[in-house]
Amino acid sequence: MTDTLTLLKTRRSIPSSNIVEPGPTDAQIEDLLTIASRVPDHGKLAPWRFILFRGEARAAAGEATAALFARKRPDADPKAIDFERTRFTRSPLVVAVVSRAAPHVKIPEWEQLMSAGAAAMNLVVAANAMGFVAQWLTEWVTYDEEARALLGLKPEERLVGLVYIGTPNTAPFERPRPALADIVTDWTPPAA
Ligand SMILES: Cc1cc2nc3c(=O)[nH]c(=O)nc-3n(C[C@H](O)[C@H](O)[C@H](O)COP(=O)(O)O)c2cc1C
Repeated sequence: MTDTLTLLKTRRSIPSSNIVEPGPTDAQIEDLLTIASRVPDHGKLAPWRFILFRGEARAAAGEATAALFARKRPDADPKAIDFERTRFTRSPLVVAVVSRAAPHVKIPEWEQLMSAGAAAMNLVVAANAMGFVAQWLTEWVTYDEEARALLGLKPEERLVGLVYIGTPNTAPFERPRPALADIVTDWTPPAA
């Protein structure tokens, strides 16, 4: 348990371009996704799913997003297009966490979406617990309908984020965290 607390107290994201080989094996990926799926889920709807970008598919996915980027931004700097090409090869494994939130008789879509966020965070924590590092990114592909389709999402699905996983080639450094005094209050009854 102490190990879990230490992990949660010290975990940091590492920029995706500093996440290198080796990545998780197929067996480790299965473990990671099993853990990612083990989140609170009101109504047991599993309102999320995962799309894996690994191996050679990563370069092809990068070429496809770069082509879309170039079409949408004809004035884009060629360096920016080149950067797009590396979108999925930056790290050994990229997991798209997809929200399948949909209207339901009892469970609000808001709750389904939050469950998907929990799945993404479980994935990040599990990757770290396994000895890897991770970064959860959204960037423009999350908010562009054509990019989402290209990544394999259905029109009614939303991208919770791309979780980059692998081994760090740099040490993490701490960043400021919010002071609890600024974000925690005790409830008091409303003034009558
Ligand atoms: C939903 C979501 C989307 C994010 N998208 C981006 C992004 O597009 N670009 C970015 O630099 N950081 C993004 N971040 C922030 C990083 O994942 C991460 O919080 C940051 O690198 C520092 O994280 P740490 O406190 O875990 O070390 C996003 C975080 C969340 C929760």
